[in-house]
Amino acid sequence: MGRLRRAGPAFEPEAPATAANVAIIMDGNGRWAARRGLPPLAGHRAGTRALHRTVEAAPGLGVRSLAVYAFSTENWGRPEREVDDLMTLFAETIEREFPDLDRQGVRVRFVGRRDRCPDSLRALMEDMEARTSGNTRLDLWVAFDYGSRAEILHAVRAMIAAGTDPADVDEARLRAHLHAPEMPDPDLVIRTSGEMRMSNFLLWQSAYAEFEFTTTLWPDFGGADLEAALRAYAGRQRRFGRR
Ligand code: FPP
Repeated sequence: MGRLRRAGPAFEPEAPATAANVAIIMDGNGRWAARRGLPPLAGHRAGTRALHRTVEAAPGLGVRSLAVYAFSTENWGRPEREVDDLMTLFAETIEREFPDLDRQGVRVRFVGRRDRCPDSLRALMEDMEARTSGNTRLDLWVAFDYGSRAEILHAVRAMIAAGTDPADVDEARLRAHLHAPEMPDPDLVIRTSGEMRMSNFLLWQSAYAEFEFTTTLWPDFGGADLEAALRAYAGRQRRFGRR
């Protein structure tokens, strides 16, 4: 037997210059608050300020798309008080941050289920999406009532309901049924607070993402931490399964 021939063209792995598409699992709000003897809401509130700093720094660091995990399908299982506080905080944050985000040229979109949150919050989310739809400096994707397994199941059900021939089910078609098919796959996924897991976030989209974990708690995160993560990313070699 001769040597196996390589399929496809030669592939030169390159160190990428910058991660244009970044996703962040914003973790550690509760611990940040507990260390100060404060309720979880105080940590989440500080978390919104960290998000503000990060969004402000992102375009200057070459980031074009930023996806953040704000509320998972599993977070409904938290104590009722914390869930209620979070819904109120999301609404307050959308109202407070809108003018600044708009001024910065940020286009905001929400990724996830829309049918389980308060009607007033859904209206604010839709309003924010509509009013920032012409902005192009940074795409901000806020994963809200989001879970990857639910998202993939939803896509599979939609294809079956549409009578899709199994032979036509490929990656492109499945992607077309995800919550936000136009959201780019992340180049880099950052998780704060020292935990090293995916927690059901962008599992399909992160198939070839690089990962960066930091022990910084989310409320302490900011532009310098984002820059450090991007610097680490720039030293990676991306192979996409090739040699
Ligand atoms: C995880 O920390 C964080 C959350 C569940 C909520 C994240 C939300 C924000 C930062 C607010 C963003 C606001 C908008 C409008 C997008 P945790 O509570 O799990 O922390 P712990 O693991 O230390 O308990």
